[in-house]
Amino acid sequence: MSKLFSSYKLQDVTLKNRIVMSPMCMYSVEKEDGIATDFHLTHYMSRAAGGTGLVFTEATAVQAIGRISANDLGIWNDEQIPMLKRITDGIHYHDAKAGIQLAHAGRKSELEGRIVAPSAIPFSEKYGTPELSDEEIKELVADFKRAAYRAAEAGFDVIEIHAAHGYLLHEFLSPLTNRREDTYGGPAGNRYRILSDIIKAIREVWDGPVIVRISADDYAHGGLTATDYIPFAKWMKADGVDLIDTSSGGLVPVAPKSYPGYQVPFAEQIRAGAGIATGAVGLITNAVQAEEILGNGRADLIFLGRELLRNPYFAREAAIQLGEEIAGPVQYSRA
Ligand code: FNR
Repeated sequence: MSKLFSSYKLQDVTLKNRIVMSPMCMYSVEKEDGIATDFHLTHYMSRAAGGTGLVFTEATAVQAIGRISANDLGIWNDEQIPMLKRITDGIHYHDAKAGIQLAHAGRKSELEGRIVAPSAIPFSEKYGTPELSDEEIKELVADFKRAAYRAAEAGFDVIEIHAAHGYLLHEFLSPLTNRREDTYGGPAGNRYRILSDIIKAIREVWDGPVIVRISADDYAHGGLTATDYIPFAKWMKADGVDLIDTSSGGLVPVAPKSYPGYQVPFAEQIRAGAGIATGAVGLITNAVQAEEILGNGRADLIFLGRELLRNPYFAREAAIQLGEEIAGPVQYSRA
């Protein structure tokens, strides 16, 4: 039996295989109200129909000002719940699990108006950045908690906190973007505090699995590296995080050199160094490559982004390649 098609337990949630659809913004909320549309329903359901074990929705904003663009999904009010519920029902219909990525864009929001960040350092000339007050930090933590409550109402099985790609929580973690002189800035333990507060607040209303997406390397002098993430990962584990989804970059406007599996070594290092389960992501595009990563104990789950945009039936083709038989939608059995 292949590792890719073996089941995996995140707390009480059993994934039928290790294939995860990575969160990907579709910028398709035309009405700018954060409410998912028929496009989203079809988009996520078809990846579930294709055999993906865990389907993540895109970055979903916990505050309206936390959107990257006005066309992002949101979970900052109750009107956003019913359509998300249709999406989770659709994913469950195809025997997959549904995950939501809770996000705040911080200084990388492209919305007109107010943009917030740990410290008043802009991402680039195009962006502004006032520093978050203590009151606003409390409100932010409360909004992540409210979002987790709504995620449960909407029927999600897994929550992922977006702390990667230069968005708000990553901006707190990295010394390059966090120059605060209060208890949320300075040493690593302080820079981690807001993420810890959020994890604990979510845990008060959510008893399912929690994943955190990190950027394991800032690709910048004075920025964070995977080694710096080992203590962070240990603290996350102590705070009840089940798995770390290991991405990289996005804090500064420099793109890393990417090649097949370029971020896998980060997942491997953090898994071994902190004793926590990890997900590997980034230019993983075929079954044999995925099987190597899992089989050699370098990660526990495989997150696929663009490959699943190209091919919603990736899992079915991977199964054939690995000599597995997987059940498909019963309606298609004559094919
Ligand atoms: C992304 N990515 C991304 N990541 C994330 O954490 N939240 C998000 O909402 C998005 N949005 C997004 C949109 C689009 C169109 C792409 C292509 C990517 C990053 C994505 O989840 C993944 O980490 C990268 O694409 C690398 O994996 P692949 O695509 O090489 O498998």
